[in-house]
Amino acid sequence: MRSVRKVAVWLFLAVERVLTAQIPLSPDYHKESLDPYPYFERDPRQWDLDEPHAVNATGNLVLETVNSLLQHWANTRYRIGHTIVPGIVPVGTILYHGAISGSHIPTALDWVAMEPEHSIVFCGGTVKLGCWHATFAVTHPMKVLYFDGSSAATIPEGTMDTQDLVAWSEMKPEWVDNEARRIQDLCKWALKNGVNGLVRMEINFEIMICNFTSHMDVISFSNLDSPRLVVDNPTTEDPNTLHHAFEVLHSASWRENYPGETRIILDYSALISFYDTDLVPSLVPRRVGLERWDHRVAGISPEDIERVKDRLAQMLERPAVTASAAWM
Ligand SMILES: *[C@@H]1O[C@H](CO)[C@@H](O)[C@H](O)[C@H]1NC(C)=O
Ligand SMILES: *[C@@H]1O[C@H](CO)[C@@H](O)[C@H](O)[C@H]1NC(C)=O
Repeated sequence: MRSVRKVAVWLFLAVERVLTAQIPLSPDYHKESLDPYPYFERDPRQWDLDEPHAVNATGNLVLETVNSLLQHWANTRYRIGHTIVPGIVPVGTILYHGAISGSHIPTALDWVAMEPEHSIVFCGGTVKLGCWHATFAVTHPMKVLYFDGSSAATIPEGTMDTQDLVAWSEMKPEWVDNEARRIQDLCKWALKNGVNGLVRMEINFEIMICNFTSHMDVISFSNLDSPRLVVDNPTTEDPNTLHHAFEVLHSASWRENYPGETRIILDYSALISFYDTDLVPSLVPRRVGLERWDHRVAGISPEDIERVKDRLAQMLERPAVTASAAWM
């Protein structure tokens, strides 16, 4: 009997060790997993769940953001991104691009969509010539960097802040609409750090591709009927435009909640959070008294920007840890 209990306790401890070893954000990850259960003695009955969390505490926000990465609804509601995560787009993933001109891969930096309903929106062309729609397959594991929040919404409220900081080491509100400059400078930084794609959330998830030939092959070019969208007038009653709008919203709805966009495999152990008060202490006073959706990254100090960029470069240097089992 005794030995059974011993085995049970051992099993419990082993499971607990595995669970605690899954804390991806702890800088003391290795040290902690070797320590003999520092939290084991704590009495859970001491917890008072009615007690509000400590002023300035951000652990809850880190966990909430981690728990909603690559999910459309949570990142629509909390649109100002506070997380940057490296990841991989695995071999065999299919990506889509609506080309304007002809059946050739983009010669400049450009975007791909995760769904054809999304890329077709960008598929221009005259009624006579139609539009060219490209389908790509990833041929080598493609390293990407994901910016959470509504990170492709070019609005002045702060959705671009984390990208500004990576591209330009400062906030550039005057360039909020300057997507050409943004992709150019983000890609310059990305290629230097071994990253070929920047993942963002628009009406659905999309990837800025820094090099169209290094990690993917064209599977097909289709000459489609031009979608002929009336995009300048959102109240349009043009049935063609409404039909496309429905299609793209419908495809986005597949990623609305957990598990979200599963074809992009994030490396949670390399995640960078602007709610990390050790990494970004300058934002703590900026958040005092604010609701979560008023939290901004603007106002971060130059020292903290440098620290974030150093940490990011460091994280991108290590081999990616992309567990196939989802632990969240
Ligand atoms: C893009 O990738 C190709 C193939 O790997 C390589 O030859 C080329 O130099 C790359 N271009 C840039 C701008 O990095
Ligand atoms: C919360 O942060 C503000 C700004 O840094 C600081 O003045 C205040 O003392 C902090 N409050 C607590 C309870 O730590």
